[in-house]
Amino acid sequence: MKPYISATVFSQRETVREHFLIVLKVPAFFRESLPGQFVMVRMKNCSHPFLSRPFSIYSVYSHGKNTFMEILYKVVGKGTETFSRLRKGDVLNILGPLGKGFDLPLECNKIVLIAGGVGIAPLSFLAERCEKDINSAEMICYMGAGSLEALVGMDRMDGICSVVKISTDDGSWGHSGPVTELFGRDMELYADNDSRIYSCGPNPMLRSLHELLKDRPVACQVSLEERMACGIGACLGCVVKTKSGDEGGGLVRVCKEGPVFDINSVEFSEHNG
Ligand SMILES: Cc1cc2nc3c(=O)[nH]c(=O)nc-3n(C[C@H](O)[C@H](O)[C@H](O)COP(=O)(O)OP(=O)(O)OC[C@H]3O[C@@H](n4cnc5c(N)ncnc54)[C@H](O)[C@@H]3O)c2cc1C
Ligand code: FES
Repeated sequence: MKPYISATVFSQRETVREHFLIVLKVPAFFRESLPGQFVMVRMKNCSHPFLSRPFSIYSVYSHGKNTFMEILYKVVGKGTETFSRLRKGDVLNILGPLGKGFDLPLECNKIVLIAGGVGIAPLSFLAERCEKDINSAEMICYMGAGSLEALVGMDRMDGICSVVKISTDDGSWGHSGPVTELFGRDMELYADNDSRIYSCGPNPMLRSLHELLKDRPVACQVSLEERMACGIGACLGCVVKTKSGDEGGGLVRVCKEGPVFDINSVEFSEHNG
């Protein structure tokens, strides 16, 4: 079993309301992280596994001899509120990189990214990796948020994607309504055989996307955000039902077999959302 390691806070700032970007100094092996993988984070000297919180890796980069990892997160409860008060030089314990990341879209012409809120984090990492390794495909991003004030991660996607389309629930920016509705209008632009779709966001959003795509053979992977306690497959707290899972009669652990799954393999109607 991998041990938790210490990571020093290099910087932290609020990007948009209640959303924070924390930069951690991490060991060099984090450079092997794949888009869609995550880390478990807990306060230093905390030995209680149930007080760890999972976060997608937003980015990993090197500067000189140092390696840095970024996490983009929204304050929703006690753990994230505590993290938001960390300052440069504070130390956290982290475990990772964990889980199965996205399959890189090696042969396709269009890469479509659909994000709900802070679900942009793993998709942004994927977009960065695609920009570096797969320069022939066009990248299109659909981003949804509650309101313009809560729209997070747009600057980075603007710099990478050829098109960024926005929706907000309150209509304060872009399309007024769910991001899946915005994507649904354009869906026919993406041919099944030369497009790859990737999505991350709240489960109801992923369920709507599943409804939209269920009769199409287009490749679509989603990253699920189940609640997690251990992050390493031991507690079974993150189990979801899949249609095609061959372990445990269709029950799979999001932290171990996921968090990335083929959208058609997830049983959205029964367990998720
Ligand atoms: C693989 C993975 C990657 C994630 N990546 C990110 C990320 O990059 N950025 C980010 O902001 N968040 C991410 N999350 C969600 C994040 O882990 C939770 O927001 C965090 O654990 C909440 O901790 P808390 O102590 O602040 O909230 P708590 O006090 O534990 O809960 C506060 C409220 O948030 C709800 N909640 C807590 N966890 C989740 C969850 N996983 N899904 C839905 N609702 C939840 C609770 O039901 C409750 O209503 C990810 C989750 C997973 C599983
Ligand atoms: S969080 Fe413990 S098994 Fe997945």
